[in-house]
Amino acid sequence: MTFEIKNICCIGAGYVGGPTMAVIAEKCPHLNINVVDINQQRIDLWNSNDFSNLPIYEPGLSEIIKKCRNKNLFFSTRIEEQISSADMIFISVNTPTKKKGKGAGRASDLKWVDASARQIAKFAKGHTIIVEKSTLPIKTAETIKKILKTKKKNLNYNSTESIEEKTFEILSNPEFLSEGTAINDLKDPDRILIGGEDNDAIDSLIKIYSHWVEKEKILTTNLWSAELSKLIANAFLAQRISSINSITALCEKTGANISEVSLAIGTDKRIGKHFLNASPGFGGSCFKKDISNLVYICESYGLYETALYWQKVIDINGWQKKRITNIIIEKLFGTISQKKIAILGFSFKANTNDTRESPAIEICKELLEEGCNINIYDPKVNASQIEIDLDQKQTPNSNFDCLEGGWALSESILECVKEADGLVIMTEWQEFKKINWEEVANVMRSPAWLFDTRLISNSKEAEYAGLNVWQLGFAN
Ligand code: UDX
Ligand code: ADP
Repeated sequence: MTFEIKNICCIGAGYVGGPTMAVIAEKCPHLNINVVDINQQRIDLWNSNDFSNLPIYEPGLSEIIKKCRNKNLFFSTRIEEQISSADMIFISVNTPTKKKGKGAGRASDLKWVDASARQIAKFAKGHTIIVEKSTLPIKTAETIKKILKTKKKNLNYNSTESIEEKTFEILSNPEFLSEGTAINDLKDPDRILIGGEDNDAIDSLIKIYSHWVEKEKILTTNLWSAELSKLIANAFLAQRISSINSITALCEKTGANISEVSLAIGTDKRIGKHFLNASPGFGGSCFKKDISNLVYICESYGLYETALYWQKVIDINGWQKKRITNIIIEKLFGTISQKKIAILGFSFKANTNDTRESPAIEICKELLEEGCNINIYDPKVNASQIEIDLDQKQTPNSNFDCLEGGWALSESILECVKEADGLVIMTEWQEFKKINWEEVANVMRSPAWLFDTRLISNSKEAEYAGLNVWQLGFAN
């Protein structure tokens, strides 16, 4: 028997919770959806009438928010109230890598999941289906179950609280959306994965997705397969990027060209063409975190060979960033102290304002460390975010002359490259594909270099305009 869902609560109004609930709200107008968060500022932005300033930039998102907000989609900090009236609760809180304590740098920090489970245990009423949306280590559902069960016992022993039967079912329904294409991914997913033990609970969630996803695309598994599959999907995707990135260096040495190699191997159906774009390294909140977590889990089960295999995927990613920084320094005559470098793109990929694990962070930090002054231009990332990422306040560009290791945010590509000795394309934003190289070369300081780490520039035009060009994975 399907349990009738009317009220949904989503804990966490971030990159996963926000867009996912927006699409469910649009596709299921009969459902009442409340997205709650502890972060008041984030909620205020979700509720703002300035739709260009939502906390998350995602193509197509603001249109859905305009359409559904305050109709069947609500954003608030009223966590307790919304948990208690929900039939189904999605947990979409952050699960970053632990910074300290046991497993620091590798294990996922589950304190926000733990806190959410405790809130659910306390405030939920009647029968509630809990859906894990955040990427979680395998067996997290076990922990959530224990927290929910403990609470049930406590209630029975606590004479001051009313004894009300609370029942829970837990499902794992990992989200596979990719930032920048989230709305499309949510509306037309490759598959929906639902892991669980109770068929009625699974059917209730299938019923929601069935409003727009074909039945054949909805896979059901046991809880642990669903939890693990999310980690493994991300590990496989990241492994392809590290594989192709490891070959960029070999191409540079041998005269092979990485774009041609990607095309040549990707046309083999068994390999496939996706995720073979050479880059300065993968970023984003998931890949590094999930593989680190996978390595940690394997080690904890004594599976050292498996752990070592996946650790290499992370190592190659770090190596690629370092390699690019060293090439920039070497091309600029071995010293970049007091030179100026323009960084085009700071987000970890195009079409998002997210900078988590962006390769630009590490590369900029190393350039600053070398005493270089950098101008940064990104269509969507703001200065306060860059200040946090670089752990350094912005210095006005006009003060660069008497400074080493300062950075400033520019309003345009031309402002960014003015008097720069080098220009590094870090993110594949559309507008960087259409740069007028003549205009750029005219304002840079000669001899000027273009470093294209995303292979999106017209190198011939840049060379013709007078720039020296280095492209990732090409013999330069
Ligand atoms: C990823 C997974 O794709 C998604 O399924 C999961 O839910 C969350 O993690 P996301 O991090 O948003 O999504 O972006 P993705 O498109 O996977 O890109 C991740 C990183 O890999 C970016 O830094 C991107 O620039 C890089 N990348 C991607 C490459 O370097 N080369 C490629 O060919 C593809
Ligand atoms: P993701 O990319 O996984 O969506 P984000 O960091 O963008 O991660 O979003 C997670 C959100 O979860 C944050 O806005 C954070 O404030 C919120 N959050 C964390 N813990 C709780 C909690 N216990 N109750 C409500 N919201 C929470």
